Amino acid sequence: MFYPEEIVEEVRGKNDIVEVVSGYVKLQKKGGSFWGLCPFHNEKSPSFSVSADRQMYHCFGCGAGGNVFTFLMNYENFSFPEAVRALADRAGVRLPQAEYSEEARRKAGKKARLLEVNKEAAKFFYYQLRSPHGEIGMRYLRGRELSEETIHRFGLGYAGKNGAALVEYLRGRGFEDALIKEAGLAGFSERRGLSSQFWNRVMFPIQDINHRVIGFGGRVMGDGEPKYLNSPETPVFDKRRNLYGLNFARTARSGNMILCEGYMDVIAMHQAGFTQAVASLGTAFTLEQAALLHRYTENVLLAYDSDGAGVKATLRSIGILRAAGLTGKVIDMRPHKDPDEFMKNLGREEFVRRMEKAENSFFFEIRVLESGFDQKDPEGRTRFHREIARKLCEFTEDVERENYLQAVADRYHIGYDNLRKLVVAYASQTGLARPVERPRTGRAVRSSPEESGKKAQRLLITWIADEPGIYARIQSYISPEDFTEALYRKVAERLFADLERGNYSPAGIVSMFEDEEEQRQAAELFHTKLPRLDSLQEREKAFHDILYAVRKNSYEYYINQTKLEEKDGLEQIKREIDGKRALEELAKTHISLDVG
Ligand code: CTP
Ligand code: MN
Repeated sequence: MFYPEEIVEEVRGKNDIVEVVSGYVKLQKKGGSFWGLCPFHNEKSPSFSVSADRQMYHCFGCGAGGNVFTFLMNYENFSFPEAVRALADRAGVRLPQAEYSEEARRKAGKKARLLEVNKEAAKFFYYQLRSPHGEIGMRYLRGRELSEETIHRFGLGYAGKNGAALVEYLRGRGFEDALIKEAGLAGFSERRGLSSQFWNRVMFPIQDINHRVIGFGGRVMGDGEPKYLNSPETPVFDKRRNLYGLNFARTARSGNMILCEGYMDVIAMHQAGFTQAVASLGTAFTLEQAALLHRYTENVLLAYDSDGAGVKATLRSIGILRAAGLTGKVIDMRPHKDPDEFMKNLGREEFVRRMEKAENSFFFEIRVLESGFDQKDPEGRTRFHREIARKLCEFTEDVERENYLQAVADRYHIGYDNLRKLVVAYASQTGLARPVERPRTGRAVRSSPEESGKKAQRLLITWIADEPGIYARIQSYISPEDFTEALYRKVAERLFADLERGNYSPAGIVSMFEDEEEQRQAAELFHTKLPRLDSLQEREKAFHDILYAVRKNSYEYYINQTKLEEKDGLEQIKREIDGKRALEELAKTHISLDVG
């Protein structure tokens, strides 16, 4: 934390969230809260609410949420300290000057140091590119038709032929060897000592959503191997949870996101005005990245390479997008290989047309399937139809499956009834999906035990924060350790400590976290949708169920944990028995919610 907590709280207290948000979003009072159109995703009716009591905002559409700092971080792309400074200015609070002192640096911890060393390295590469040594890199980038402005915007750089130069520079700036190594900027060898593995490469700094450099990708000059070299994972570089270009794409507000394969593709797209383009980080697209995109849009356009490998990657990503509840469409780039080449040859207008014509991901899958069977051979066609039936079974929602069944039967001239029979046969044979004839039971929501354990923890925190009086009654049954998610535990620790002092503020708890994504998750904890129940008995039952679920989850979690750690057998048995007994005890205990 850059600023002392009391100051952060003072700044927060002096900036009413309704007033601040009103500067950006038109709000209307309805009931106890203010409502407006969410600035973080596209919508036509307001699902964005701001609560004056809680001093928090929450969007029921996209899940964005947090306190007044989170809002500015999200909206203005500010880092946490920047948001604190802006709001301190607004309210006339004087901030201490401590932030860049040697002392504060030490305190800011490992992550901050890693971010600093990355930033310095990015600067080094940036200046190298513009120095005489960097001419080869500059010539390369110009050759790829990047403008000066684009090169600057993406902070592109060049790593010269001497891998020791970066290390020398960073040492000169006071960074220790261990840190340089931990940041993945250099490695040690007998022959060269500490030296960077990035040399003779054009460098792409990889930034998180707050524009902080978290790693690098480097493209070799000429035909060396590997073509792209990426930083290893570090405490600040999580390749599964970041996307190249998202720092700009998140504010593009274009109603969709374009997913590309490579860094150069993203840059070429942005240069052409498609600032909603992103790419994964030299690794395959992940479910975490899909969830990240879901915060900004429902519609993802895939712009992968048009070659065989690209098609394979597209199919894979379609499945992931679907699992994350996103609608995927595929852009046809042919005859060009990738968005970069496409843009150079056919330009932006043609790309817009291709976006409009993007193919529904299901039809794309079927089209790829089609090419794998000999359509002239009856056997081949039969197998193709069976495969279609199998794919149709992946839709868990009856209406959706029915619609696709009809559409695909039309398009491929398959008898509707015959195809339907195949689907029913396949479904009952494998149990993959319920047969089509069964009555509709609405969308099937299946959640993993892990997810439901987390959900109970969120419900419990929201409930306690809404009715703080409860805490005294359940204090002996619950402790922060029962929150098995690290972030939840941190929130619970603080919330319970605050409640014991009799003075608590969820919005204040949110600013314990510096990272915007963590702030969002912390805020989410206070915005879970609680069951609406009128009678006291029903409420007590619901609350008891939640409390029990949290304890049961924690019991199972710690039992598994001790098994993994292979603790002494006897001790483990004792823990299991004690834990079980406590759970049974809790099951029988009545917890009153009666305030009277
Ligand atoms: N990639 C990688 N390591 C490699 C090759 C590729 O990490 N050895 C990743 C990079 O993120 C790259 C993306 O995969 O941006 C796409 O690879 P490719 O299609 O080969 O890259 P292009 O963008 O076409 O490369 P260029 O245009 O620079 O030749
Ligand atoms: Mn390319």
